[in-house]
Amino acid sequence: PTPAAAHVHSLLASYPDFPQEGIVFRDLNPVFADASAFRSLIDELAARFQGEFDAVAGIEARGFLLAAAIGYAADVAVLAVRKGGKLPGTVLSEEYDLEYGSACLELEVGQLAPGARVLIVDDVLATGGTIAATARLVERAGYKLTGVGVVLELTDLVGRTRLGDAAVHAIVAL
Ligand code: PRP
Ligand code: HPA
Repeated sequence: PTPAAAHVHSLLASYPDFPQEGIVFRDLNPVFADASAFRSLIDELAARFQGEFDAVAGIEARGFLLAAAIGYAADVAVLAVRKGGKLPGTVLSEEYDLEYGSACLELEVGQLAPGARVLIVDDVLATGGTIAATARLVERAGYKLTGVGVVLELTDLVGRTRLGDAAVHAIVAL
């Protein structure tokens, strides 16, 4: 267990059959709503990859909250990876499957120098489809993937196996 793990774990809430039957939805809002839990998990993720990233990419929607805080703490650039159709200009798109449904994520090109090292962050690693699609965007944009930081990894869904040899740090694994 990591330093933030016990506190974050104690704050997780579970909702059976949300947003559809058969899914047990883990709600992280109580974690974001607890200032000391939030600070400790941000510090842990920033420390784990310290000196290894020039930018942090947050995935819509809850990944944005993490990326903003980690970017500020580590004094690095912040990238917003958005759901399809939200970004102007030249964008890269990747389709992906979700635990429930399918979707598209996009990244604006030209935000960082070629070869910039990017840390991807999100709240939950479930099937891994979302983060795998984001990793493809990072690589297609000409950047180097440093690793992946998440608050919660749902290990039953084996999302990690879809991320190749990327370094994955989860605050809590269930
Ligand atoms: C959730 C979660 C992750 C993703 C994980 O977001 O925040 O981004 O699903 O699932 P996966 O590992 O199976 O791909 P969601 O797509 O529900 O979007 P939201 O944050 O905009 O609600
Ligand atoms: N909680 C939040 N986001 C998710 C979940 C969950 O249980 N599963 C897939 N994305």
